[in-house]
Amino acid sequence: MKFLNKYKRKYWLPFCIAVLFLTFEAVCDLLQPTIMSKIVDIGVANRDLNYVFKYGGLMLIITVIGALAASTRNILSSIVSQNFGSELRSDLFRKIQTLSFKSIDKFDRASLVTRLTNDVTQVQVFVNGLMRIFVKAPLLCVGGLIMATKLNIHLAVVLAVVVPIVAIIIIINMKVSFPFFIKVQKALDKINGMMREYLSGVRVVKAFNRFDFEENKFNQANEEFQEKSTSAIRLMAVFSPVIMLVVNLGIIAVLWIGGIRVEHGQLQPGTVIAFTNYMTQILFSLMMISMVFNMFIRAKASAGRIEEVFEEENDMTWIEKNLKTSKKGQIEFENVSFSYNGAAGDPVLKSLTFTCLPGETVGIIGSTGSGKSSLVNLIPRFYDATAGTIKVGGEDIKQIDPKYIRDKIAIVPQNTTLFSGTVNENIRWGKEDATKEEIKRAAQMSQAHDFIMESLEGYESRLGQGGVNFSGGQKQRLSIARALVKKPEILILDDSTSALDMVTESKLKDSLKKYASSLTCLLIAQRITSIMDADKIIVLDDGNIAGMGTHEQLLNTCKVYQEIYQSQMGKEVR
Ligand SMILES: Nc1ncnc2c1ncn2[C@@H]1O[C@H](COP(=O)(O)OP(=O)(O)OP(=O)(O)O)[C@@H](O)[C@H]1O
Ligand SMILES: [Mg+2]
Repeated sequence: MKFLNKYKRKYWLPFCIAVLFLTFEAVCDLLQPTIMSKIVDIGVANRDLNYVFKYGGLMLIITVIGALAASTRNILSSIVSQNFGSELRSDLFRKIQTLSFKSIDKFDRASLVTRLTNDVTQVQVFVNGLMRIFVKAPLLCVGGLIMATKLNIHLAVVLAVVVPIVAIIIIINMKVSFPFFIKVQKALDKINGMMREYLSGVRVVKAFNRFDFEENKFNQANEEFQEKSTSAIRLMAVFSPVIMLVVNLGIIAVLWIGGIRVEHGQLQPGTVIAFTNYMTQILFSLMMISMVFNMFIRAKASAGRIEEVFEEENDMTWIEKNLKTSKKGQIEFENVSFSYNGAAGDPVLKSLTFTCLPGETVGIIGSTGSGKSSLVNLIPRFYDATAGTIKVGGEDIKQIDPKYIRDKIAIVPQNTTLFSGTVNENIRWGKEDATKEEIKRAAQMSQAHDFIMESLEGYESRLGQGGVNFSGGQKQRLSIARALVKKPEILILDDSTSALDMVTESKLKDSLKKYASSLTCLLIAQRITSIMDADKIIVLDDGNIAGMGTHEQLLNTCKVYQEIYQSQMGKEVR
């Protein structure tokens, strides 16, 4: 997998050193049975105590060396796997930050969370396992085979039968279990998704008393996860004992054949013991291999899911160019159409053409679902228009690095998003180096200053996650302050005054006018009173512009506008 190359380059050296220590370990393990057979067959058989002590001491030294090698390798493998895991996680996080809205919609947020946490952990666990046992196991296995064959070629026939059978079982195991682990991760995605949705909607759940319903929904997802995990584990559970059975049958065969040969004086008993020791080592290493293979298939499934994110191409293209323009804050739409599902999908915006001049306040009104939010989301390039051209400051936004466009634009989204932290921190979020004075100014303009000062800690008041301890209107004003502190050229308020009373709203608009005479302001609203005095009003109706002009002009000419006016003001149009 391509994304792993970077880490391979970085960690190959400590990895190789770990392998070196593993080799020491394996060699030490492999020497033991042979030395033991010598002690039994020569030392004990001839009652030569000297020989027994000499080789016993050698065995002890080898054991100590093996233990030291094992500890060093353990430390090394933990460091490498932890560093690798944390680096992979932050790289993935960085990649997720660059994903376009379209990609994030595609992956589903919960799945991205699982990929960032559980999937990375699976790969990390495998790397650790790989450095701990995987290299040692083949060494033990091959070394054991060689040593055993050297010990006695006749007994080695048993190995020739047992080893290929076990190898085949391991391969079948891998082939069969792989799809199961992909299913397990998908089920985990579902649980994460459900939990995320539940927690963000917990108030609604409580208000509607839908605990049982939510619990059932969660239980279903949980059971599915359990089911999928159980089938995967069941599969693994079958294979390990089968391998053990085959190898144990082999040991019985060795004891049987060995016993006969010892009886006929063709073989020493120590050799048989050593041979069975090698067999156990080989069994042990095969079990380890199958275990690491299991880790491997889990990690492979997870790495595949991580790779999908890394491979996700950003289909937005641009030229690395800054925005240099004389038409500061001008926005032009030329025959812009847009659909969330590409050119073939249902269009949400249909061939829109309009211009917002620098310093103009443009109101956008229209029934819910008419495409107002979709329209403004195109300006900072959250999504790309499917047809037509959008120009900001006189330049096609597809020709400029979105970073620079977003620098000029401040958007207050329809759903207010605040972060845990103080009021100060939340407003400063809009401009990292904002001074206290700037923050206060922004808060005053957005009519947030007064209510902030009313609280005991003022600007140091803490917001809970998402700003739970503030009212809807307060949150809206804080997020407007956050946008204003940025001193943008274009300010987009997506229904951001909906929770304000009329008096506060009009104060806000007054101060915006004063502060922002050069600011182009796009104002989306449901209430006609919110946009009535805008320089220009765009009436959207099912993705089309139903009318454009000042309040008076629209009252005279635009039927949709007249209807909205009538329904909201309760008056007939004159
Ligand atoms: N992320 C999305 N993926 C697919 N379709 C979407 C997405 N967001 C909005 N839509 C669809 O686009 C259409 C326009 O939605 P939009 O949010 O622009 O309406 P709106 O005018 O802002 O409505 P409201 O006044 O309720 O905020 C709707 O039919 C909606 O179903
Ligand atoms: Mg909207």
